[in-house]
Amino acid sequence: MPRHFLNLADAGGDAVAAMINDALTRKPARRDWPKGQPDRDAPLAGRVLATIFEKNSTRTRVSFDMAMRQLGGSAIVMEAGGMQLGRGESIADTARVLSRMVDAIMIRTDNHAKIEELAHYASVPVINGLTDQSHPCQIMADLLTLVERGFALPGLQLAWLGDGNNVLHSLIEAAGLMQFTIRIGGPAGYEPDPGFVARARAAGGDIRFTSDAREAVAGAQVVVTDCWVSMGQPGGEAKIAAMSPYQVNDALMAEAAGDAVFMHCLPAHRGEEVSESVIDSSRSVVWDEAENRIHAQKSVLRWVFGQL
Ligand code: CP
Ligand code: NVA
Repeated sequence: MPRHFLNLADAGGDAVAAMINDALTRKPARRDWPKGQPDRDAPLAGRVLATIFEKNSTRTRVSFDMAMRQLGGSAIVMEAGGMQLGRGESIADTARVLSRMVDAIMIRTDNHAKIEELAHYASVPVINGLTDQSHPCQIMADLLTLVERGFALPGLQLAWLGDGNNVLHSLIEAAGLMQFTIRIGGPAGYEPDPGFVARARAAGGDIRFTSDAREAVAGAQVVVTDCWVSMGQPGGEAKIAAMSPYQVNDALMAEAAGDAVFMHCLPAHRGEEVSESVIDSSRSVVWDEAENRIHAQKSVLRWVFGQL
């Protein structure tokens, strides 16, 4: 059975910790090198990753390609619409064919059931590059960013503001695996999937809800948000209106801990979920977070290939 990375729970807390530690070692070892130069040990030399995009992407697209180059391997980047997948070839047959041609597959898809089907029929590792349900690679980068900044994950106090979306689902999963607290501030009707919440709580994560944005961020060490309308999800004026009290702005950040950091997976909608002043402030770690997509995913790739 190949090692798939569809959700953080596929790896488990020990493997997540091992991946973060690996990234913490590998990242500084190549500081200031040309970005495409392979790491000294080139641990994935000769390996090829196929990446498939059914939805737009900047960070995921570039970071997986760069991660493979830095690991000594390479990537084939494909739009689903340009593949036979886009005109009706089945997921199962695509999985069978790609498994004969490449060493691993990453997919960004609109429906989590599709990645499960791909993983079922693939005989090589499959990695989730975002689905409607979850975005585990993003949260690996976020955890790396926090640990790199000196935060200890167990007992950490995070606040999430806004929509109960795919990114929040993976963050909730991480709270269970790494034993931290998330206070979710958002409007009724836009809560995350209760299944993720129940599993995280059962694993020891502390997941709380409030409709009061100030209560959500009170004393938080980390304040996180994301777009109010995710790709492929219904939006509309009613949703924007419901979300507007949860904008992360200077007044809200003033309620968080004095040294609290601001995180956002990007792309950001400045003036909607976050004010210009917060995302561009010294408390914002969004550019480290984006860069860390490369470093965290290198360790995810090493994990799926059994190197961690
Ligand atoms: N954060 C993230 O996944 O960005 P992209 O949509 O640009 O890949
Ligand atoms: N929740 C966002 C994340 C984008 C990286 C979306 O799914 O559109």
